[in-house]
Amino acid sequence: MSTDLFKETVGTSFIYRNRTVYELTMRGLYGRHYGARYRAIAGIVPDGASVVDVCCGPATLYSGYLRAKSVTYTGVDLNARFIAQVVRAGGHGEVRDLHAHTPLPGGDYLIMQASLYHFLPEPAPIIDRMLAAARKQVIIAEPIRNLATSDNRVLAAIGQRFTNAGDGAQAHRFTEATLDELIRGYESRIVERSLIAGGREQLFVLSA
Ligand SMILES: C[S@@+](CC[C@H](N)C(=O)[O-])C[C@H]1O[C@@H](n2cnc3c(N)ncnc32)[C@H](O)[C@@H]1O
Repeated sequence: MSTDLFKETVGTSFIYRNRTVYELTMRGLYGRHYGARYRAIAGIVPDGASVVDVCCGPATLYSGYLRAKSVTYTGVDLNARFIAQVVRAGGHGEVRDLHAHTPLPGGDYLIMQASLYHFLPEPAPIIDRMLAAARKQVIIAEPIRNLATSDNRVLAAIGQRFTNAGDGAQAHRFTEATLDELIRGYESRIVERSLIAGGREQLFVLSA
């Protein structure tokens, strides 16, 4: 079996296998705050802007929230099935392993939601690459409730299954304290900082 096929069939967390499973899981985790996490980001992006969504998943942000604002949308993700969904929704899509240190596509707004933990233990380089590619702002929203180590056994089990996107399992997550420490390195660029999705995610907007 080739490495890529192995990753596709065996290595990837069950939750990342297809859009329906992924979206149902996210709805379960975020409950009534599910839509709010996307609306918080879409509300920052002005009509007609160009957006690059890094680790975009199955284009939920685009198809449900940004398409109506006539943005030019490019989604980048390791998961070819998710990128096929981006293209079906009318966006541009690129299948890429973002651990490779190549420049990101340029755009007014570079966005990453619920994916920074995939770059632990060294998350700063992906933020720096986003800043280099952004003409206006970088928007990052990251979960700070540590689902992977939750006291709730069901949530903990689900959280742990998010760890392998197809490039190997990552056991680490951010807490509010570790995310704060990281973002302190970008203090002079912070335009906005808030909690979204009922306090489940911390949002940072950085000037490019
Ligand atoms: C929890 S999902 C978030 C998706 C979307 N941003 C959202 O909030 O609905 C994390 C995404 O990161 C992608 N991903 C993880 N590691 C990656 C890597 N090394 N390169 C590219 N994409 C990656 C996964 O395939 C998955 O779609």
